[in-house]
Parts: sequence; structure tokens; C-alpha cells
Amino acid sequence: MNKIDLVTIQNKTEEYKDKEVVIGGWVRSTRDNKSFGFVDLNDGTTFKGIQVVINNTLDNFAQVVKLNAGSSLIVEGKLVLTPENKQPYEVIASKIEICSATDETYPIQKKRHTVEFLRENAYLRGRTNLFNAVFRVRNACAFAIHSFFQGENFMYVNTPIITSADCEGGSDVFRVTTHNFYDKKVMETATPENDFFGKNVFLSPTGQLEAEAFALTFSKVYTFGPTFRSENSNTARHASEFWMIEPEMAFCDLKGDMVIMEKMIKYIINYVFDHCPQELEFLDQFVEKGLIEKLKNVVSNDFAHCTYTEAIEQLKKNNDNFEFKVEWGIDLQSEHERYLCETIYKKPVFVTDYPVDIKAFYMRMNDDGKTVAACDLLAPGIGEIIGGSQREERYDVLLEKIHKFNLKPEDYSWYLDLRKYGSVVHSGFGLGFDRILMYITGISNIRDAQFCPRTPKNCIF
Ligand code: 4AD
Ligand code: MG
Repeated sequence: MNKIDLVTIQNKTEEYKDKEVVIGGWVRSTRDNKSFGFVDLNDGTTFKGIQVVINNTLDNFAQVVKLNAGSSLIVEGKLVLTPENKQPYEVIASKIEICSATDETYPIQKKRHTVEFLRENAYLRGRTNLFNAVFRVRNACAFAIHSFFQGENFMYVNTPIITSADCEGGSDVFRVTTHNFYDKKVMETATPENDFFGKNVFLSPTGQLEAEAFALTFSKVYTFGPTFRSENSNTARHASEFWMIEPEMAFCDLKGDMVIMEKMIKYIINYVFDHCPQELEFLDQFVEKGLIEKLKNVVSNDFAHCTYTEAIEQLKKNNDNFEFKVEWGIDLQSEHERYLCETIYKKPVFVTDYPVDIKAFYMRMNDDGKTVAACDLLAPGIGEIIGGSQREERYDVLLEKIHKFNLKPEDYSWYLDLRKYGSVVHSGFGLGFDRILMYITGISNIRDAQFCPRTPKNCIF
């Protein structure tokens, strides 16, 4: 079968003009005008799909125009240009093969469904305009990220998914085990030592520690992969499985780190402007009014900067309106983060130099002895989309921190030794891929930014 992708026709319309083509796809809707019928067909390679025109002389005309949404077809016909119509071209069918006709139980009908309903039918939701747009932008963002880092001389590295290094120190992790803990007998004798790896291991909540080892060899590296956290937060921006991009740079301090973060975010957005204009228009119209304007502002303005201490001073003025009252030393809650970027700065803002006690052990101690060289990038509507820091590169200071955080130095021996064998100032960050996608598409729930979202008590297929 010599099927042509609809995107190829879209990109090379002149080449296919008046030619016979074979296309395939799934029916969005049909219309019967007696002498003619129309099928709105989409094969998933484009946002808009194509209109197929069927003359009533076609032998299966009556069947085709009655097809339900979701039915699959292979169409042979001629591509004709229709510049005077709503759609710039269409296919006049000479033969239609019905691969599979859906019945009335097909869940995705033409009317607009709620996102909650579509979540229940996640396996089919890519066939709606909304999810077609979201997953297409997701694809473009992924490509943009590789393209950005490759262009900046970063090397793509793969860090392990099964790990024994619990980097975020006490962050909630999923254990990996072959012990059957549902079997009471097994539980009596189960130990880490007689488990599969002979020790406690987890699904990785970050690839950072390993990325640091790569960076102290290849200078600039990035990971891009799935990460897992078992935190029991049922919010619109937490998923138990999410994708993270973790760049790591040797010879780079926190300032340089933030330069790369801002450049990367702007690059991704510009890439989506260039490659997904139809999707952005749709999302602007139906998901977040003003989305395109918002993104244009992001790429053409500098991000804001403030220290944690400055942020606290500003937030305190609004303390009466916060559920969690603000004072120096607290971990910023979502309401504080959003107030900062949505009300005070009205754009993405870097908050830097957090108190040592509320950040991870590996972050570099500042000279004040109270704060660390960390930064979070907060985005309006989402909150934190990036967490990053300059890493503690001094052996003695790091060892002291490990003790202070009640971690065992022997669990971090190779990480400590990195500080003996060619240590250098280095920094990195983690970009939440699903969160940047939410920001760029206007989607307000992370469950709609992923194909198969995993959240507490929710793991459908
Ligand atoms: O701030 P986090 O925890 O940073 C780290 O994991 C560092 N090791 C990164 C680094 O420096 N290499 O997570 C980084 C980002 C967050 O800013 C957020 O965007 C995203 O990962 N993230 C989540 N996204 C979805 N669901 C969750 N449960 C997330 N937890 C973090
Ligand atoms: Mg963080």
C-alpha cells in the first residue's frame, strides 16, 4: 500500500496537485448532501486532517456517509486544490475501503467532551483536536530540546532508571524489588540483602548525580528521560511518573546555569511557534485565551530575578491573604510561588539563594553560611518548572553537608570522590517536561499533558 501521510500532502501540496493519492485515517465526521458526501479524515500526522469528497456514484457511498466517528478508511482519489473554500485542498475519492466501522459505543463523538471524560478514555483521546494539538506540541518540544542542547555542544547521556542513589535525600521513591510483599511468609525473611540487587534500590527520582559524573568528563551533558516520585500529592501539576531534562555543566556557576535555562525556554517556545502554528491557534482559541500573546512576551522579554530573601520580604506584605503565612526559612508553597510570578512580576521569575535547610544536600553553600546557590524558575499559571543549583564541589564542605543531612557517606562514596578527582565548579538543573508543556499549551492539569498519566491510585493501562 503506497499510503501518503497527510502531513506530506500538507507540506508538498503543489507536488501532489491533480495527482492520484492513497490516504488512510480515522473518520472525524461525515456529511451527506445526497449527490455528494464528505468525510473529515485525519491520520494523526497533521493537526487539521483532510476533507474527502465522495460522489454518490461510488458503490459504497451509502455506507461511507453513514460511518461513525472513529471508523478507519483507506481512500484512493485525486488531490484537488480548492483555494476558494475553507480548506485549501481536498481528495475526490474514486475508491474507499472501509477497514473497520465503529458502532455507536465509540466514546469520542463529535460534540465537545470534558477533559475528565476524555481521561477515562485516554487510549483514544489523541483523536480529538485538543489532544492531537497537545501531543503534537509535546513532540515538537522534545525535538526542540535535543536540537537546543546539541547546538550548544551538550552531549545527550542516559542515566539509569533503576538506582541505589537517593539523590533528593528522603524524597518519596518507588522501591524496586522482586520480593512479593503481598505474601506474608516472604515478608518474614525478606531483607535488602536477599533481594534481587542485594540492596535497597529505587526507580530514579532524578538522574542528576550520574549526570554530574558525566559532566566532569564531557563538560556539558543533558539527560532526557522518565523519572519517578511516590509523593502523595494529588495536585494538577504532580505526576508519579514524569519526564525531566537534566543538563549539567562543568566550569559553570549559578549565573551561567540561569543563562542556559532562559535561553532554552525561549528556544523551545520559538521552535513551537515555527512548527506548530495551527496547534497554537487552536489552543489559544479553546484552551487559554491570550496564549500566543503570553508566549510572545516570554520570548521577547528578560525573565525576572529575585533572591529568596527578597521574595519573602515582598510576600510578607500579602501575608493576610495566604493560607500558609510567610517568614524567612519556610519552603515556598504553591500559593506563594504563584503570587510572585503572577501578581508581582507577571512573568517567569528566577528565585535564588534559598535557605540551606529547605534544599538538597548537594547544593553549594554560599559565603553567608545560611543560603545555598540554588534557583527555581517559577512560571505564571504553573509555579515551579525548573529546579537547579550550583553543586557543592568542595570535598570537605560536601562531606559535612552529608553528615548534617543525616545521610551515610558510604552511600555517596563515588559522588564524594568526584570531588577528589578533578573537581571543578559545576551547575545544572531539572526542567519538568510535562510542566513546560502545560505552560506552552495552556493545559491546566498534568494528567492532560501525558498520554498515560500515573498519579496516586491511578494507573490505567
Ligand atoms: O526541583 P526538582 O526536584 O529537582 C531535581 O530533581 C534536581 N535533581 C534537578 C537537577 O538539578 N538536575 O525537580 C525538577 C523539576 C521541577 O522543577 C518540576 O518542574 C519537575 O521537575 N517535577 C515534577 N513534574 C511533575 N510531577 C512531579 N511530581 C514533579 N516533581 C518535580
Ligand atoms: Mg524543586
